[in-house]
Amino acid sequence: MRRAIYPGSFDPVTNGHLDIIERGCKLFDEIIIAILVNPNKQPMFTIEERREMLGEVLATLEHGQCRLLVEDFQGLLVQYAIEREADAIVRGIRAISDYEYELQMALMNRRLEPRIETVFMMPAEAYSYVSSRLVKEVFGLGGEIEGLVPKAVEARMRRKLDGN
Ligand SMILES: Nc1ncnc2c1ncn2[C@@H]1O[C@H](COP(=O)(O)OP(=O)(O)OP(=O)(O)O)[C@@H](O)[C@H]1O
Ligand SMILES: [Mg+2]
Repeated sequence: MRRAIYPGSFDPVTNGHLDIIERGCKLFDEIIIAILVNPNKQPMFTIEERREMLGEVLATLEHGQCRLLVEDFQGLLVQYAIEREADAIVRGIRAISDYEYELQMALMNRRLEPRIETVFMMPAEAYSYVSSRLVKEVFGLGGEIEGLVPKAVEARMRRKLDGN
């Protein structure tokens, strides 16, 4: 039984995240999608809202025999991974710019906890430029984001923007 942790902000979950989860399901029996509680970031959605959205969209995802769980965590990722008895941390790599930061994190995490492997996965090209930050920015300026986030997420963003 292979268990992975897929950590991130998921503020909100995008089709890029879902692409990585779907691919991860080919490698792992269980993936814990772990929302990082980061007091230093000013998020669009609360942790609770992000959990709800993830739950909603994961229910429609093609995940075969792979079990998908949504949790949130604070503090050291590797410590959380050990607590949850995970084998690996899954991260998505979009471009060289991701690689530099991700390599640094992966090597630091390996030093902290050699039992946990980091697995990098590449998304479909169509999602290789999609980030939560950019989607929020474009949407906030009135741009079209269809196909970049699930419909349910876009609807929630619309409600947020309209002040509710
Ligand atoms: N479109 C994507 N394709 C592949 N990996 C992705 C994509 N979007 C995010 N990821 C990966 O998912 C993990 C969690 O990312 P994170 O929650 O920071 O999402 P993000 O879209 O980068 O959000 P933000 O813009 O707020 O940084 C990271 O490993 C990130 O590289
Ligand atoms: Mg990011």
